[in-house]
Amino acid sequence: MMKLKDSVYWVGVKDWEIKRFHGEEYSTHRGSTYNSYLIRDSKVALVDTVWTPFHEGFVEDLEREIGLKNISLIVVNHTEQDHAGSLAYLMEKIPETPIYCTKNGAMMIKKHFHKDWNFNVVKTGDSVDLGENRLVFVEMPMLHWPDSMATFVSGANVLLSNDAFGQHYASPYLYNDQVDQGELFQEAIKYYANILTPFSRQARAKIKEVLDLNLPIEMIAPSHGIIWRDNPLQIVYKYQQWASDYNEGTAVVLYDTMWGATKKMALSIAKGLGDRGVGVKTFNVGKCDKNDLITEVFKSRGVIVGSSTINRGILNSTAAILEIIKGLQFKNKIGAAFGSYGWSGESVKIIEDRLKGSGIDVVMDGIKMQYDPEAEDLRSCEDFGAALAEKF
Ligand code: FEO
Repeated sequence: MMKLKDSVYWVGVKDWEIKRFHGEEYSTHRGSTYNSYLIRDSKVALVDTVWTPFHEGFVEDLEREIGLKNISLIVVNHTEQDHAGSLAYLMEKIPETPIYCTKNGAMMIKKHFHKDWNFNVVKTGDSVDLGENRLVFVEMPMLHWPDSMATFVSGANVLLSNDAFGQHYASPYLYNDQVDQGELFQEAIKYYANILTPFSRQARAKIKEVLDLNLPIEMIAPSHGIIWRDNPLQIVYKYQQWASDYNEGTAVVLYDTMWGATKKMALSIAKGLGDRGVGVKTFNVGKCDKNDLITEVFKSRGVIVGSSTINRGILNSTAAILEIIKGLQFKNKIGAAFGSYGWSGESVKIIEDRLKGSGIDVVMDGIKMQYDPEAEDLRSCEDFGAALAEKF
């Protein structure tokens, strides 16, 4: 248990070992944390639990440090298993304890755990008096699940924001001013890009709503990673930027290649872009972490994708990254396709269709080359990149 301020304590778990999260869907190079919080007042409130594999140690620690019978109520800000996974084990020990959550939260807890516990459904503005502090609830639907909410500890003035403003980032430290700022913001933007991008419209509206409340926020404590105590609103303003169809005016060239021809095209297209002043990064998607690539896509204005043709289709690594891009529905991005082929040559058309289906504005007809491009072909690729640069 670590004291954050006044009566607010961190009772979470640091997971140094996890390298893939959400099944295999999200890479966690720097581990993660599952942050649970305890408000020790006249009443004691537990806000969120930790991921299922850690349930025994989590509950044992609570028993030793506070006594489970002394927990007056449990707040479930979000029912996903990394936060509510230890609830069933905890509720076996204290089954009558009231659970505060949204209407969707109660439905989802029942669907997950098949139990009808003592639910207290709350809406935005509802509150619970703990003594010196009051918990004020703010529904956050689709940030990032329908059940999501945040809890403001009025008195201590700590916003327990759940997934919002979090990062998959294990550290020996708790606070934002104690860690490497590059690592912290890399993990924060990766989290936003890979998880929150499809909900940017809701994020913009909710941030405005919360800022308009003029809450005296002194600390923002999310459910993953580092707690924002130094200038806590800096991450809220970052989210405002990221939620506003963000890009940095740069380009990313994503490709996979069978025998190197598509790679030569990728590098020449990138040269054409770069020579015209567009900052450009080039990645072989077959060799890169896909969540890191999505972060690069998020930061880019231009998304140029290439693949060899294989069996009338595209290489599976390229198909996978395009599937993720489609799901995230980025806004305010332009794109184009390229690729080499031997005889049928469908890859460029397939990529263009997928980019269009992802909401990316395909601003030029794609370029394809049969077998291995010669110097003159590669000059055409450079010209293609230069022409693309004019569209930025
Ligand atoms: Fe960290 Fe949506 O769970």
